[in-house]
Amino acid sequence: MSKISAAITAVGAYVREYVLTNKILESMVDTNDEWITSRTGIKERRILKGEGKGTSYMAIKAANQLIAKRQINPTDIELVIVATATPDMQAASTAAYTATQIGAVNAFSFDLEAACSSFLFGMSTAAKFIESGRYKNVLLIGADKNSSMINYEDRSTCIIFGDGAGAVLFEPNHDGLGLQDEYLRSNGAGREFLQVKSSGSSYPVTAETLAKKENFVFQDGKTVFKNAVFNMADVTVKILERNDLEKSDIAWLAAHQANKRIIDATANRIELEPEKVMMNIEKYGNTTSATLPLLLSDYESQLKKGDNIIFAAFGGGFTWGSIYLKWAYNS
Ligand code: UT7
Repeated sequence: MSKISAAITAVGAYVREYVLTNKILESMVDTNDEWITSRTGIKERRILKGEGKGTSYMAIKAANQLIAKRQINPTDIELVIVATATPDMQAASTAAYTATQIGAVNAFSFDLEAACSSFLFGMSTAAKFIESGRYKNVLLIGADKNSSMINYEDRSTCIIFGDGAGAVLFEPNHDGLGLQDEYLRSNGAGREFLQVKSSGSSYPVTAETLAKKENFVFQDGKTVFKNAVFNMADVTVKILERNDLEKSDIAWLAAHQANKRIIDATANRIELEPEKVMMNIEKYGNTTSATLPLLLSDYESQLKKGDNIIFAAFGGGFTWGSIYLKWAYNS
């Protein structure tokens, strides 16, 4: 029997209608459109508002779009992974709720958290279930409601992040398409540079932590920037070398959308033409776990069967890595 590889066979996405523009941010903090655009490439982001609406709200919408497009029966989905850094709540699985809401009643499900690398690591995880031969339909959703942990009085973070969700379906492929190779890394020495200090078990939320605004994202932007530029480029080069890929073999670079300058630096390191670099940071900002599937959704109509796509991400922890995948369908 031919080797089973794990191919992406459908994509779905969801962002909220509400648009937080650079102009609106100018009225909230001491910033300006020129600074944000030149330093990050971001023009606007989507924000999920509404009481009680958490990450699962967007995850469910993205998954339902995928289910309708692919015309699969949700009862055939065997596993739902929700990659997220902003679960609905602690202790209760966001993935379990999402799976039930979309009718994936035969699936088991779990959340996967690796900050901005959550979706990338989720791709690796989903693929393993398929490659084992035991699972045929694995739904991977990347979703984050970053606005729930952003201080809109802190100009160093509030200009960067947005909310969104994207979903992909992994199915077995016998023609060599799908995930080819991966190089995934982490280094816990990085956690002091990007974190929400008071959000988990180390420093539970108290009146004191709230007063110190430790329930919001803190980022040492410069240090994270330097590490992101170095490491994302490094893993991208490694995956190309390991697979004997020349830049002419690459159809697309799908890199985590944290800062246009980081993405450009990665593309420059492998001398990739700008037209092969997926980019939508201007519309959504950094949506953490949703950036990669939102890219796939926006570029889906341009992707061709057999296209070599290099994925790369870097995020809190630190966590980072790259994945080499052959696209499996024409839309
Ligand atoms: O997805 C997870 C991984 N995260 C990332 O990859 C993000 C990595 N970091 C970055 O993208 C960038 O470091 C930022 C976009 C966060 C910041 O850009 P930067 O070029 O590193 O700026 P900076 O923090 O060095 O600040 C430069 C100047 C400072 O002023 P002084 O000290 O030079 O007078 C800041 O106070 O810009 C000032 N500044 C701003 N000015 C206008 C900082 N934020 C703003 C702002 N508007 N929003």
